[in-house]
Amino acid sequence: MTTRRRFTLTQYLIEQRRRFPSASGDFNALILDVALACKAIARSVAFGELGSVLGHPTPEVATSINVQGEVQKKMDVISNEYFTQMTEWGGHLAGMASEELEEPYQIPETLQRGKYMLVFDPLDGSSNIDVNVTVGSIFSVLRAPQDVIDSGRDVVEADFLQSGTQQLAAGYALYGPTTMLVLTVGNGVSGFTLDPNLGQFMLTHPDIQIPVDTHEFAINASNARFWEAPVKRYVDECLAGKPGPRAKDFNMRWIASMVAEAHRILMRGGVFLYPRDTKDTSKPGRLRLLYEANPVGMIMEQAGGRASTGEVPMLGVQPTSLHQRIGLVFGSKNEVERIERYHAEPVKVELHNPLFAERSLFRD
Ligand code: F6P
Repeated sequence: MTTRRRFTLTQYLIEQRRRFPSASGDFNALILDVALACKAIARSVAFGELGSVLGHPTPEVATSINVQGEVQKKMDVISNEYFTQMTEWGGHLAGMASEELEEPYQIPETLQRGKYMLVFDPLDGSSNIDVNVTVGSIFSVLRAPQDVIDSGRDVVEADFLQSGTQQLAAGYALYGPTTMLVLTVGNGVSGFTLDPNLGQFMLTHPDIQIPVDTHEFAINASNARFWEAPVKRYVDECLAGKPGPRAKDFNMRWIASMVAEAHRILMRGGVFLYPRDTKDTSKPGRLRLLYEANPVGMIMEQAGGRASTGEVPMLGVQPTSLHQRIGLVFGSKNEVERIERYHAEPVKVELHNPLFAERSLFRD
């Protein structure tokens, strides 16, 4: 039996770096530090109850609320610490921002500061952790503003308010049946599977491409009564199946772990919607722009898919705050474009008059 030759993540990064002969290697070292944090999180997640990592950091749920007003899990806190501790020492970062931290994270003055900024959601979908459903980490790498690099000053919120097109790299790790790292450094998307014996991410999914068409959609349908008209129209048409305007049957999926839905869509196509709705008008969407929508958006676009607010391309949105929420639609290109078209078209006035219904006095 011949052993299949596979690239490790390190070898892949060295290959990618050959495109930039003057690159210092800092960027690659940063990605490897992120990968190390993900491996540490994967190990903790894998121990589950045996590792005493499930549940809340404090016995009273009320005191386990994070900056987003969401219930924090022990693994949220542990994952955040792995990210900060394993990436701060390398000298590649000017600062970080995390879903779990209200303010930007400063690289301690005793350590060297660098030219990149790391933005992350250390454990996406963590409401699933206690029920042993796939969770993941999402990250994005930005370049620090020049004055931050020159002066080594503390980072402030405004330094992070860069549109998705300015991301240098984005990725996610998935803690599922296997641990995977999916990465784009702006040259397509590659997937790596963690070999638990070697402790190495091995390139198993080179050059991932999302099918442009799909018959699978993912949305939290319990919010249906709060959806805006274009979203309602899109979902109604999918549900109508073969006899409906789309003339085909659709499947619906909802894991409630965005990172896991993104991975399914990357592997076999599909569309994900967490649109802006009227459930809580103080929140313009459920998901966060800088560390959820933008990194997933970059991965989707790099794999031939599309990411959007429903109205405009996600990566073009100018952020206004660190923890900004936004409506998010991503996945197979033709489907996302259809949803954008529905948003652009004037809202059809629904006539609840039986005379104008599909079968009525005026139709046969
Ligand atoms: O971080 C937000 C998140 O956990 C996503 O991973 C997921 O898609 C969404 O929330 C689930 O929301 P809901 O509870 O409305 O299903």
